[in-house]
Amino acid sequence: MNLPVIPTGRRAALLPLCLLFLKTWVPVHSYLYNNRYAGDKVIRLVPESEREAQALNAIFHQLTVGSCTTGGPVAAQQHLPHLRGYSHRCTCSREQFTNSATLPATSKHQIHIQSWMYRLNKTHSDLIHMFSVGKSYEGRPLFVLKLGKRSRPYKRAVWIDCGIHAREWIGPAFCQWFVKEALQTYQSDPAMRRMLNQLYFYIMPVFNVDGYHFSWTNDRFWRKTRSKNSQFRCHGVDANRNWKVKWCDEGASFHPCDDTYCGPFPESEPEVKAVAHFLRKRRKQIKAYLSFHAYAQMLLYPYSYKYATIPNFSCVESAAYNAVNALQSAYGIRYRYGPASSTLYVSSGSSMDWAYKNGIPYAFAFELRDTGHFGFLLPETLIKPTCTETMLAVKNITMHLLKKCH
Ligand SMILES: *[C@@H]1O[C@H](CO)[C@@H](O)[C@H](O)[C@H]1NC(C)=O
Ligand SMILES: *[C@@H]1O[C@H](CO)[C@@H](O)[C@H](O)[C@H]1NC(C)=O
Ligand SMILES: *[C@@H]1O[C@H](CO)[C@@H](O)[C@H](O)[C@H]1NC(C)=O
Ligand SMILES: [Zn+2]
Repeated sequence: MNLPVIPTGRRAALLPLCLLFLKTWVPVHSYLYNNRYAGDKVIRLVPESEREAQALNAIFHQLTVGSCTTGGPVAAQQHLPHLRGYSHRCTCSREQFTNSATLPATSKHQIHIQSWMYRLNKTHSDLIHMFSVGKSYEGRPLFVLKLGKRSRPYKRAVWIDCGIHAREWIGPAFCQWFVKEALQTYQSDPAMRRMLNQLYFYIMPVFNVDGYHFSWTNDRFWRKTRSKNSQFRCHGVDANRNWKVKWCDEGASFHPCDDTYCGPFPESEPEVKAVAHFLRKRRKQIKAYLSFHAYAQMLLYPYSYKYATIPNFSCVESAAYNAVNALQSAYGIRYRYGPASSTLYVSSGSSMDWAYKNGIPYAFAFELRDTGHFGFLLPETLIKPTCTETMLAVKNITMHLLKKCH
């Protein structure tokens, strides 16, 4: 997810905790680049009556809400007086946000994921093999779990990656959930047993390890990798614009300080290069590529870079249709599905298009919950339901893969 999603005022105002990011007026040009949140304010509001909710509702429509990446300053100051009546329950703080107080106290999360993988590699060596496909820009290993019964020498495979974009934390959570569920239900669930017996899953829980780490320690809304640029002080490349497929065309930026910066050349990022190399080597074996992002509640397939229908559209389309129905059956959460270009937006150089162009017939990108109310800050209580329903979709796609489609 790149562009901000603005929730409808009503829905937002009626929820118990409202997070507002106000882009207050600052001189043009000064708000960008060095401190992306300069001039922003975080305001938490809890409406306590219907009247307050309505008042908030009225203001919400006019503000830039829930996003820290909007391009230009919105003259929000004029709306601030409306909020004065709430000030006794309102925390407005600029420092808080720039100094990343919204971040959890610990930065050990990544270490936890790693030691979790090491542990599984030991305790479930019959189903799991952990290996590294390379090193990140900052030198972290790029770990992948190969999941599946070693029953035959050759098995078809499904690739799953999470966390291409650092701030989309629900992604890595889902990848871990998938592995945990697979191991726990291998004995009891015939569908899971079939999946693990007949296929391998290559699972990369954190693709953009440097960015992910940075989003836990410094900037909760960091999206890109952390590579340095020789001419600009801005770090990072959008790891989902850096692939060699219509590279740096529509929906990507040449400017190193933009969140959709495509990089100096295709596969300039060691993370992208390592995964592309791995997938290229196994393009015959890998039948599905699944990439997990947030947020939008969408299941997307190629093309991303142009408005056009892929060949064999009907097999991919029916897989998507069934998957979103399976997902909805859990908690009634509706996903839109379709070609990424027309369903979300046009973007070039994406991993999904690249996988498809390199011969992986089923290429999907999930945009997980929600549709913008919490956005990247999906609360912990929603992790489990989100992962549970997503699991149904992934199983459904995988079972589709095991059948013939014509
Ligand atoms: C996972 O375990 C295997 C042995 O079962 C070992 O060869 C391999 O090095 C381990 N992976 C990692 C990343 O330590
Ligand atoms: C996949 O989803 C479709 C539609 O909900 C359903 O009919 C089908 O049984 C599901 N298949 C599996 C294996 O879950
Ligand atoms: C797409 O069609 C080609 C031939 O028309 C076929 O070889 C290929 O397996 C099909 N892919 C899928 C996903 O059905
Ligand atoms: Zn994303």
